[in-house]
Formats: sequence, C-alpha cells, structure tokens
Amino acid sequence: MGSAKRRARLGKVIAIANQKGGVGKTTCAINLGGALASLGNDVLCIDLDPQANLTVGLGIDLNTVERSIADVLIDSNISIASIIRPTKTKKVDVAPATLELSAAEVELFNAIGREMALRDKLGRDLTERYDFILIDCPPTLGLLTLNALVAANGVIIPVQTQYYALKGVAALLKIIKTVQNRLNPNLKVLGLLPTFYDSRTILARDMLDSLKDLGDHQVFGTVIRQSVKIGEAPTAGVPITVYEPRSDAAKSFVDLAKEVIGAHK
Ligand SMILES: Nc1ncnc2c1ncn2[C@@H]1O[C@H](COP(=O)(O)OP(=O)(O)OP(=O)(O)O)[C@@H](O)[C@H]1O
Ligand SMILES: [Mg+2]
Repeated sequence: MGSAKRRARLGKVIAIANQKGGVGKTTCAINLGGALASLGNDVLCIDLDPQANLTVGLGIDLNTVERSIADVLIDSNISIASIIRPTKTKKVDVAPATLELSAAEVELFNAIGREMALRDKLGRDLTERYDFILIDCPPTLGLLTLNALVAANGVIIPVQTQYYALKGVAALLKIIKTVQNRLNPNLKVLGLLPTFYDSRTILARDMLDSLKDLGDHQVFGTVIRQSVKIGEAPTAGVPITVYEPRSDAAKSFVDLAKEVIGAHK
C-alpha cells in the first residue's frame, strides 16, 4: 500500500469545540457524522460532554449505558472499543457519555498525563476502523476539551452568526495555538462553521464578514441556517440526513461533509 493510500485509511479525528454554550457543537457532531456516513464513511462519534446530548441525540437511552467515556478516561483497563455502541443510523457508532463524566473530569485532574488520557486510548484499532472520528466537546475550556484537542488532528469551531459570538472565539484560537505549540503539533483548525444563520438579517450577514476577518483561519463555505427540522431530528434519535434527507438542512451538512473530506485529501 502506498503511503497516500495508507494515510487515507487512517481515521481522521476531529474535535468540535467552542466554550460558548448552545452554538451548535452537538448538532454539528450528529449531523456531520450522519452526512459523512451517507457518503459511505464509517463514523465514530465520541461524546465528551457530561450533558450527553450527543449520546441521546443518536438515540441511545442513557439508562442502558453501563460503561461510558468517563470510565475510559479514568480506568486504564477500559478501552474505547469496549464502550462503543451502534446507533440507529447505519455506519454511525457512538462512544457514549453519562452525567458521571463531570466527576471523571475532577478525578482526571490529579492524574499524570491528564491531557493525554483520550489520545492514549485512541489507538490504531480505531483510527483504522473508522474513516472519521468526531469528538463533541462540552461548553468549557476545561480538561475535557483539552483532551479532545490533544487527541484530534482537526478542529471545527461552530460560531453563531449573532452578536458577541466572536468574543470567545479569539480565546479559543489562542488555546488551540498553545496546544499546537506544546502538546499536539498535528492539530489543524479545519474551519469556523457559521451556525444559526438567518440571511434575512443584516446582522447575520455582517457577522459572516467579520468571521472572515478574524485572523487567517478558514471559514467553511457551508453555512448552517436556522431550521426547525434541525431542532427536531435529535428527538427522533437520528441525524437530519436520516430524519429529513431532502431538506436544505440535510444538504448543508452533506456540503460540509464534502468540505471536510476535501480538507483531508
Ligand atoms: N441550525 C439550527 N437551527 C435551529 N435549531 C438549532 C440549530 N442548531 C442547533 N439547534 C438547536 O439549538 C440547541 C443548541 O444546539 P446544540 O446542542 O447543538 O449546541 P451546543 O453548542 O452543543 O450546546 P452546548 O454548549 O450546551 O453543548 C439545540 O436544541 C439544537 O437542537
Ligand atoms: Mg453540545
């Protein structure tokens, strides 16, 4: 196998991060995952948020989760493979979270190599088995998000096209730079992803322009618009690409998936 081909077969690990809450991180993880799967990729979604919205949004009943990513992070004997569950969506698996992940984060705080806990568990068995591994981060810049940034080779930053949304992004980009310099030189910012876009408002259009002015980071060409269907899909436990495949929202996530695939070529 040539090195290009071998590289193509290695899993691409993408963190979806923004310490601001409710900007569309989990929505991106679920629906980008669904869109990548609809294009024929095997996808693993890792839930690194104690809110467990990703796990629930992919149709997993939290009462049935005996072992979660919390156990993986604090117990050296528990592998990611051992907690992976299939979802209702073909080609999408999930490494679930539960509320106990908060306690695990506190426990992890005193561990040696605490920033590497996730990376140490993401072995070749997983990066070869999955074409893409997406990590949904919590709305904080704590140890869990740091673990995601250390384990990933790409990061997507969803940004709401609304007032004040940019304030936190500069801080996040600064942390990413530190991670790149000190812990993970392989980390690439794949792009800022405009979310909750409403083209009827001048504010949203201005926001898109100012996003593009923010340093030298690429902004995805795909914009995720406000959509009632996007809010509904997780209650059915499936991505929008399954819930309403012909919708504009589903098409947007397929466009995003194509951009992400292109970025890894
Ligand atoms: N484009 C959209 N149009 C309409 N509703 C959306 C859109 N994107 C996300 N939502 C809804 O907004 C809420 C917040 O989105 P989401 O959970 O993806 O954000 P988050 O950044 O993961 O939040 P948190 O920081 O709490 O983890 C959810 O109820 C979601 O269904
Ligand atoms: Mg979330």
